[in-house]
Amino acid sequence: MSKDTLLTPHSLKKDATYTLGRTSHETNRLIEQSRIYGESTRRLCVEAGIVDGMRVLEIGSGAGDVALMLSKLVGESGQVVGVDINPTILESARQRVLEIGINNIEFQAGDAREILFEEKFDAIVGRFVLMYMSDPTAALVQLITHLNPNGIIAFQEPEYTLYPAFQHPNTPLINQLISWILDVFHHSGAHLDAGLGLYQIFIDAGLPAPEMHLQSPIGAEGNWVGYRYMTTIFESLLPLIEEYSLSTPEQIDVDTLSDRLREEVLAAKRPFFLPLHVTAYSYLHAD
Ligand SMILES: C[S@@+](CC[C@H](N)C(=O)[O-])C[C@H]1O[C@@H](n2cnc3c(N)ncnc32)[C@H](O)[C@@H]1O
Repeated sequence: MSKDTLLTPHSLKKDATYTLGRTSHETNRLIEQSRIYGESTRRLCVEAGIVDGMRVLEIGSGAGDVALMLSKLVGESGQVVGVDINPTILESARQRVLEIGINNIEFQAGDAREILFEEKFDAIVGRFVLMYMSDPTAALVQLITHLNPNGIIAFQEPEYTLYPAFQHPNTPLINQLISWILDVFHHSGAHLDAGLGLYQIFIDAGLPAPEMHLQSPIGAEGNWVGYRYMTTIFESLLPLIEEYSLSTPEQIDVDTLSDRLREEVLAAKRPFFLPLHVTAYSYLHAD
């Protein structure tokens, strides 16, 4: 693994290619992802102190799942502003909000590092987004200028550098999937250590040391949702996997991937680990 994809200074580099693409597969994957990672995001926001009546900025909203969760936490007297650089995915997010009939969420298309707001926020939240930014510390320094004194900063990012530790001689398919995932994220320029890197990002941005947790959804039962979710990851990664010549659609065979994974896990009697992630929160010191 090259040091380039770790949190070494990146300021002269451009942002990572958005590894998971811009297709409708990706919108569906984000919704499935939220079913798996959603509870830890909610816990992060509750522990950090996001409550009724707060005004929250959410960056990298994707299909809107984090904004939808935040809208419940802040209630009708609060407000959520979600920003995403991809205007197309925000159309799905807006449609979902409309269908549910929520009126305390607003989405804005743009680069979260550049967008301006008239009012300050009580909290900034982001899930799986700093990893794509060339300089996550510079991004955070910019983002916290939108916070009120004592404002909350809460992020959740994946940690891929620990993922190879879960490879095992009895799980060749899982080993191969982990290796493809690491290769494609590495080629795209994403930060593979954004999760544990949150500590350095917060400290270098001048924030107090964050409260952190490392987690991984794991499962071994026949009906576990993780097999299907892993397949949605590969549906989204496939175009870049091909572009980087890492594998072929025939080799990956997404149509049978869930079943093959399930069979391997049941035979090996060894839980299957989805990508690990880290949650971190801290507060902007009042001057
Ligand atoms: C992996 S998705 C996560 C979506 C959502 N946070 C979730 O967990 O369901 C990352 C999202 O961040 C967005 N993104 C990446 N860089 C961004 C930037 N500089 N400003 C705003 N959004 C960005 C991408 O377009 C994508 O929708």
